[in-house]
Amino acid sequence: MNIYVPLILVGVMLVITLILIGISYLLGGGGEKIITINKHTKIPVTGEETLLNTLAQQKIFIPSACGGKATCGFCKCKVTEGGGERKAMEDPFLSEKEKADGVRLSCQVKVKDNISIEIPETMLYAKEYHTEVVNIEDLTYDIKLVQFKLKKPNTMSFKPGQYAQIKVPGIDIIRAYSIASNPSQTNQIEMIIRMVPKGQATGFVHNALEVGDKIIVTGPFGDFYLQENSNKDMICIAGGSGKAPIRSILAYLKDRGMPRKVKYFFGAKSLKDLYYTEEFLELSKEFPNFEYIPALSSPLPEDNWQGEVGLITDVVDRFTGDLTESEAYLCGSPGMIDACIRVLNKHKILKQNVFYDKFS
Ligand SMILES: Cc1cc2nc3c(=O)[nH]c(=O)nc-3n(C[C@H](O)[C@H](O)[C@H](O)COP(=O)(O)OP(=O)(O)OC[C@H]3O[C@@H](n4cnc5c(N)ncnc54)[C@H](O)[C@@H]3O)c2cc1C
Ligand code: FES
Repeated sequence: MNIYVPLILVGVMLVITLILIGISYLLGGGGEKIITINKHTKIPVTGEETLLNTLAQQKIFIPSACGGKATCGFCKCKVTEGGGERKAMEDPFLSEKEKADGVRLSCQVKVKDNISIEIPETMLYAKEYHTEVVNIEDLTYDIKLVQFKLKKPNTMSFKPGQYAQIKVPGIDIIRAYSIASNPSQTNQIEMIIRMVPKGQATGFVHNALEVGDKIIVTGPFGDFYLQENSNKDMICIAGGSGKAPIRSILAYLKDRGMPRKVKYFFGAKSLKDLYYTEEFLELSKEFPNFEYIPALSSPLPEDNWQGEVGLITDVVDRFTGDLTESEAYLCGSPGMIDACIRVLNKHKILKQNVFYDKFS
């Protein structure tokens, strides 16, 4: 064979490769693109990653409780230019209005070209934190308190009620947990994490996480937080680990001398599902403005329970009058929240005064 044939073949392949790179560049794949955020911030980026990941590389963190699998619907943002066609898997998470407004799941948008997006300004404050676990406590048989010391950066400013996300080491899945601690404590945060059967993140937290472990946390996120400028009476309702954000809200109010009237309903099955009962009963002794009403739906005979009995919805119904001038803060399972909102509506709560986080 002619000794030049291999050389010619290599040359042809090189030319083809260069042509393909050129085409990819012209189509925007390898070249620089600009992400414009809220009309005022322009960020040059390269590559063809998802919008969610591209922003994270630029240290802009969009909530993403499912880690980009299009199963949580948290990573919504409005795309006003570019971004390509919406994918069918985004549809279940978007209302008709959101679709018409160009809202997309940022984990499903590829940055192939210049793109303009709109996100809440508060999202620009979320950061990635390197943390160390400094304490783990059993609160019940299936709920743990975990304290994270913030190492880098070493302080987080958050509103009482907001949540943060933890990345599970090794499997790199991301899950959302409300911040359960006092916002005045800025160098560490606490989370209250309930074990979910076969749950990946909660399985890790309950069975493998140890004091001293290093965990990546992003946040703060969420529009469920105390309306600090309001002086309306408050109804708080929680079940299970839903106590977490309410605890943060109450710590904030306690620091200010409990300036608002608060009724806090906590629903559990039996005595073994209650926790922090002493903490909240003490608070109610200290502040006449604060009333704590734990209720058990199925107390056991050995519980010797003298408190309220029944479904939390029935107990709220019994204890509640006209709510036209009140605000409600609800946290827990989607089913519990929907059922409680129906009861609050019966008591004439105004829609704009109802705030909730569904732990789905
Ligand atoms: C804004 C927000 C705040 C949250 N705050 C908290 C908090 O403070 N404390 C807390 O414990 N959890 C909280 N959650 C729930 C948390 O993010 C996880 O969904 C939950 O811990 C399960 O994660 P996992 O990886 O263990 O389960 P996965 O591996 O994701 O799920 C395993 C299985 O359990 C089901 N499942 C998932 N979550 C639940 C659930 N909550 N109850 C019953 N079944 C479930 C799934 O459908 C799946 O079949 C919050 C969720 C949101 C959206
Ligand atoms: S990150 Fe969960 S849907 Fe996009």
